[in-house]
Amino acid sequence: MIALVLAATLMLAAGGGQAQAAGDAAAGAKIFAERCARCHGKEGKGNGPDLAKLHPTSSPVDWTRAVVMKQWSDKEIVDIITKGGKAVGSSPVMPPFGGKLSDAQIQDMLAFIRTLAK
Ligand code: HEC
Repeated sequence: MIALVLAATLMLAAGGGQAQAAGDAAAGAKIFAERCARCHGKEGKGNGPDLAKLHPTSSPVDWTRAVVMKQWSDKEIVDIITKGGKAVGSSPVMPPFGGKLSDAQIQDMLAFIRTLAK
């Protein structure tokens, strides 16, 4: 945790005071392709090939739409990735990644997701 704060502080200093996410979006993109794209779609539009056979009660949203993603706080995104859909009252088809990805990797996912909305 201290290392994370330190890294964030260093990034802030490097960015000339501009706020930057702590996660590494490039690392997040790699994890996304391996573990998330089958449901969330190659481009994060929420249209992955596995969804059709899983029949989720509600489909993932399109991560490229800024209007939609503005409604998701960083905490909500981190929570659903960590605990899964069921724990936060969403579709149980969204698996929990808390035991599979480290906190830092989940921050990388958040950083990656935040680069998509235009
Ligand atoms: C087996 C299919 C599946 C996989 C794999 C999957 N998801 Fe999801 N995910 C879903 C579904 C379905 C929802 C929609 C839940 C709802 O809104 O009811 C969802 C919702 C989400 C949301 C909330 C915003 C949204 O799109 O609705 C985030 C953030 C998310 N997933 C991140 C991830 C990440 C990061 C990974 C990979 C580490 C991942 N998911 C892997 C099926 C999946």
